[in-house]
Amino acid sequence: MRPKKSKPHARARIYRATPNNLRRLAAVLRRGGLVAVPTETVYGLAAHALDADACARIFVAKGRPTSDPLIVHVGGWRELKAIAETNAAARTLARAFWPGPLTMILPRKSVVPDIVSAGLPSVAVRMPRHALFRRLQRLAGIPLAAPSANPFGYVSPTTAQHVRDGLGDMIGHILDGGPTAIGVESTIVDIRDPQRPRLLRPGAITRAALEKALGRRVSEGARHATPATQAQLAPGMLSRHYSPRTPVELHAAIDRRRAAFTDTTEAWLFFARPTGLAGKNIFALTPTGRATVAARRLFGTLRALDAQQFTRIHVELAPGSGLADAINDRLRRAASKR
Ligand code: TXA
Ligand code: MG
Repeated sequence: MRPKKSKPHARARIYRATPNNLRRLAAVLRRGGLVAVPTETVYGLAAHALDADACARIFVAKGRPTSDPLIVHVGGWRELKAIAETNAAARTLARAFWPGPLTMILPRKSVVPDIVSAGLPSVAVRMPRHALFRRLQRLAGIPLAAPSANPFGYVSPTTAQHVRDGLGDMIGHILDGGPTAIGVESTIVDIRDPQRPRLLRPGAITRAALEKALGRRVSEGARHATPATQAQLAPGMLSRHYSPRTPVELHAAIDRRRAAFTDTTEAWLFFARPTGLAGKNIFALTPTGRATVAARRLFGTLRALDAQQFTRIHVELAPGSGLADAINDRLRRAASKR
């Protein structure tokens, strides 16, 4: 299934969230156009989820292979039931975490076009919490398919300007919702079998939180792909995912005394600000060491460092677990070779 090439737009316009603009963007979505939208995780590139042609435009704009399925964003449980088979465990997770940064994999209903789920019998669904997203979706009155609004393989966008930097020549409309609050993509859990929930992508909703809500163990699912679902059982497992152009090298902990900070062609990104160490090649993800702040600043910092002339970006992994797992997952992907 190969989407038709569409003519590149001039330059994407960034819209402020006025009532008029929201109505206008909702109309664009209803008639099959693309709109980049803020969510609490990262910006998404949205299209009418039940319109196969509209969804095909997403793949063209991102340069994304059609083997990589999209997440369908819904406004509520009723809308979810129209597109997916639900179960009690899904209901429990929705009650606990929706609206919010949790995506569930469920059996797909036939109204969902093949292109949305890359022909898989399942569909990824999520109900975002972002107030502007929800207003726009209510006005549009349709489920919205939306991957992160970046060119395929690059770092996800956390501001409207990031979206324009990456897709400005490919799309016409970006809704500005300011910097996103969480900064890493949603947690993805496969809940098709309520007895065997599996975590496919770590995010702000931690595995511990999922296990507590469900009252059972949640396994690491990404490594157990079966041939039938190999298309993209493990989300974002493609090696180019989330990668800056500059090579990224990871460190469990950067030794403050011994590392070669004097070579200013290489950047050093600490997790927390290193006391007593400064230089124009020394950076920190968070002044205080708080993981929520680090997650929010992660992609913007990688983009900013990528835009400088460094030959290498050294990055210190986040300590601990929970949100740190999500940060480190994205860092490992950023560091993976092409
Ligand atoms: O926070 C988020 O999830 C953001 C915002 C915009 O909602 N969206 C996002 O979408 O990160 P995307 O397309 O960049 O990542 C979605 C991941 C992909 O790696 C895809 O392979 C996986 O979800 N996915 C989608 N449908 C799936 C399915 N049926 N089974 C397994 N994985 C699926
Ligand atoms: Mg993505």
